[in-house]
Amino acid sequence: MKIGVIGLGRLGRIHTTNLVQHVPEAEVKILADPRVEETEEWGRNLGDFEIVADWHIPLKDPEIDAVVIASPTTLHGEMLKEAVKAGKHVFMEKPLAHDLETAKELFETLSNVSVKIQIAFNRRFDHNFRKIKSFIDSGKLGEVHLIRTTSRDPHLPDIEFVKKSGGIFFDFMIHEFDTARFLTGSEVVEVYAGGSVLLDPRIGEAGDFDTAYAMLKMENGAICVIDVSRKAVYGYDQRVEVFGSKGSARAENDRETNVIMSTEEAVCTDKPLYYFPQRYMKSFANEIEAFVESVLEEKPVSVGVEAGYRSILIARAADVSARENRPVRIAELL
Ligand SMILES: NC(=O)c1ccc[n+]([C@@H]2O[C@H](COP(=O)([O-])OP(=O)(O)OC[C@H]3O[C@@H](n4cnc5c(N)ncnc54)[C@H](O)[C@@H]3O)[C@@H](O)[C@H]2O)c1
Repeated sequence: MKIGVIGLGRLGRIHTTNLVQHVPEAEVKILADPRVEETEEWGRNLGDFEIVADWHIPLKDPEIDAVVIASPTTLHGEMLKEAVKAGKHVFMEKPLAHDLETAKELFETLSNVSVKIQIAFNRRFDHNFRKIKSFIDSGKLGEVHLIRTTSRDPHLPDIEFVKKSGGIFFDFMIHEFDTARFLTGSEVVEVYAGGSVLLDPRIGEAGDFDTAYAMLKMENGAICVIDVSRKAVYGYDQRVEVFGSKGSARAENDRETNVIMSTEEAVCTDKPLYYFPQRYMKSFANEIEAFVESVLEEKPVSVGVEAGYRSILIARAADVSARENRPVRIAELL
């Protein structure tokens, strides 16, 4: 299976590295990014790739079976449509699109196409989230009543990234929205959300928040409470707790070691793993491996366009809720 990667920034490089190092069934043939020189310099030690500036080139290449799209979010919609039109299987970074209108159009036109489309909600492939999901599915926790998730980045993103990101609900909290659907197996019916600008006024000037919360009411009655921040001084804070009628399950942060040092002054552990390339590396490898397996074995992908669309519906509801200071029902947006 031959693959072209479009967009060789942080995520494009992670996916390329994982394909080369962990997925022997796949061969990365083309890397497409307007930053050709940087891409050449980066890719030199990893493999013998054809490096091009124009993302249409892998789509026109008849040898290419699939593309990985890891470009800025504003380009996702157009690139996905073109890739499908060219008959390529697609693994695409989240979010599906930068706005609800584009996401809806993609959902309506691409839900039943013959090529595979996987959206990169990597937490579904993470060891902690998966284990909690297995407890829920086996009935060990009983009926799920409450979910709490926390996601806090270790440092602020570049302001230029913020401007193109689609906003904190579309870019960042989108992972929690998908997690809520994944863990409860239910759809969101109502969202109440809010945000503040506490870290950098330029984020506010760009029309965004850097600190935010959301409460989701699910169709089955479960409630999900989410908090996010663009900066936690102690590292990448990724926690989740599911509380059900028969018990609860909680995932704490992963650390470099599990050593606890206790002295007269304090009880200390390692800090959480620094950021997503450290914390979620195994999940990134798992998700791309699963995509290649779906293509080669002609199996449905486990997270596709519908999950991408539903998470964007929730993000839009959260955005409206935060700006209008009121609960927003998903039905309002359909
Ligand atoms: N799953 C996750 O945990 C996670 C984490 C971070 C980012 N992301 C997502 O990954 C995507 C990329 O984010 P990133 O952090 O890697 O961004 P980035 O800015 O590091 O990389 C984007 C790359 O796309 C390239 N690019 C720009 N225009 C292009 C074009 N026309 N054709 C081809 N390439 C083009 C840029 O030159 C850059 O190299 C975003 O959609 C983001 O939401 C996902």
